[in-house]
Amino acid sequence: MDATLTTVDEVLAAARGLLELPATAIESTLERLRQHYRETPLLFTPETLALLREASARARQSRIADSAGPALATLKEVFGYPSFRPGQMEIIEAVMGGRDCLAVMPTGAGKSVTYQIPARLKGGVTLVVSPLISLMKDQVDAMGEIGIRATFLNSSLDGAERARRTAQLRAGELELLYAAPEGLDASVGDLLDSLDLKMIAVDEAHCISEWGHDFRPAYRNLAGLKRRFPRIPVLALTATATPRVKSDIAEQLALRDPLHVRGSFYRSNLRLHAVKKGAGTGVRDMILRLVRARRGESGIIYCLSRKAAETTAEFLRQRRVRAAAYHAGLTPAERASVQDEFSRDDLDVVCATIAFGMGIDKSNVRYVLHRDMPRSIEGYYQEIGRAGRDGAPADCVLFYSWADVISLDRLIDNSDASDSDNAHQQRRAVRRMFDLADTDSCLWRRLASHFAEDVAECRESCGNCTAQDIVEEARGARAPIAGGRAARDFASNSLREAEAGSGGRARDVVAAPDAAETPDADLFERLRALRKRLADERKVPAYVVFSDRTLQAMAVEKPCTPDGLLEIHGVGQKKLDEYGPAFLAEIAGPR
Ligand SMILES: Nc1ncnc2c1ncn2[C@@H]1O[C@H](COP(=O)(O)OP(=O)(O)OP(=O)(O)O)[C@@H](O)[C@H]1O
Ligand SMILES: [Mg+2]
Ligand SMILES: [Zn+2]
Repeated sequence: MDATLTTVDEVLAAARGLLELPATAIESTLERLRQHYRETPLLFTPETLALLREASARARQSRIADSAGPALATLKEVFGYPSFRPGQMEIIEAVMGGRDCLAVMPTGAGKSVTYQIPARLKGGVTLVVSPLISLMKDQVDAMGEIGIRATFLNSSLDGAERARRTAQLRAGELELLYAAPEGLDASVGDLLDSLDLKMIAVDEAHCISEWGHDFRPAYRNLAGLKRRFPRIPVLALTATATPRVKSDIAEQLALRDPLHVRGSFYRSNLRLHAVKKGAGTGVRDMILRLVRARRGESGIIYCLSRKAAETTAEFLRQRRVRAAAYHAGLTPAERASVQDEFSRDDLDVVCATIAFGMGIDKSNVRYVLHRDMPRSIEGYYQEIGRAGRDGAPADCVLFYSWADVISLDRLIDNSDASDSDNAHQQRRAVRRMFDLADTDSCLWRRLASHFAEDVAECRESCGNCTAQDIVEEARGARAPIAGGRAARDFASNSLREAEAGSGGRARDVVAAPDAAETPDADLFERLRALRKRLADERKVPAYVVFSDRTLQAMAVEKPCTPDGLLEIHGVGQKKLDEYGPAFLAEIAGPR
């Protein structure tokens, strides 16, 4: 490609010259050399490669300096968050620098901002490929709430609405376009050429791989995108990817030299507990006790069978808990209505099989209970990942027993593949899950190590470390605990996060919350009621207005000016303008 660089020495000289350039000017030449290397690697000696790495590191440093400022400013101004979570900045920096990126970050880790912030900073349009049409509306609504101009195109729209959105996109009025992979071979695909496309984000990217667990043939439509738009960075995001799935993603999407980013599996706001069934109180009563102690908070109870989901929901309803069942035996309309009521806080508890969850974005799920042991650690992790997405504390209680192992074995035996390799794998997965549940050591440490991550003992986020008996603690808690224990934990949690900054975690800074930092429970309840009223008026889910965590922070800090409110976690400029007066009035109280 580069006609002037035909010998080893010329290439070496070019690499040396690179280091003489100012850091900001390195990138374009470096990219040319990268391309050259792909074509004729033999011209590159180890010395040359070392020089190029050095140059690349310098360019990266200058990019960090360049992009950290605006990215962080956007995080604060638009999202109202004080700092990045692990991995986010690296990803943003890579795509801002035009580099492809493949990020594996667990459920709830915060993958979305890694394309939302670049979309704002780059201008033009960012395409987001996302598998679930049913979620696009909520995602776009949530973007609207914080002032990011987003839209979606999919089969649910009529011709006139499509035309309107297309015109807006062409006129450069929108920053984010969500589309399903199915749309990309048809009309959306044609539209792209006429847009000022700046970046492509592929969410749930594991769906492209046949080796993954949710293979979606339509994801194969994405294969041609990189060829069509070679200069546009592609960001592939997923919560779960084995090495094989990862290389499949990179290959199928034709990613060029992608930056690999891996988030941490440890989420300190999720409090893990494992409770062995069979001795003493029955599981139903333990569940009831836990649910009653969390009255008014949102929770999910996972059950192994449809029948168990039904009976558990019925049992709770008879005891005046707003509960419903969710499983694959319901009609699509019934399922949609349960999901909708839950997201609008009109339903507190969903008793569900694994059919429930993919793409549940509700951020204020305060607890996830497993009535039965899940069939694998992967499944368990995904299910608890639906709790505490707002970063506020949430409890995850796993009920388990050897009888569950036997039930799961029976299911495997009765399946089509009962003596195949696959069945053998499944039985092993069940046993690994049991071993995790039954361990005396730190649950987080065990869980992370299953995903090949080494973390220290959590000391505060699992029942084994804290020697807490969560079921016993819930005994006798009948009155609604406003803001719950979650709220009381809030202060120490936020301290820890501030200390950890955007990088690693600080473990030893668990300060005891002093009195001034304890949320005002009565105020929290009033704020929650206000949130619900505003959300219903606007026909959006309550958590889209403000997360639980944001309300908790308000109930601690009690800001009385707009500037004070803007300091609260999760309050950005747009929400301040929109909701600030109402919330400030509520905090000021009746006068
Ligand atoms: N830096 C941050 N500080 C505080 N909260 C954040 C930050 N980044 C993201 N969040 C919040 O974390 C929550 C989860 O983020 P997001 O929906 O992007 O998760 P995800 O990684 O896409 O998970 P999933 O795999 O389940 O889709 C959201 O409520 C988001 O606003
Ligand atoms: Mg996501
Ligand atoms: Zn622990």
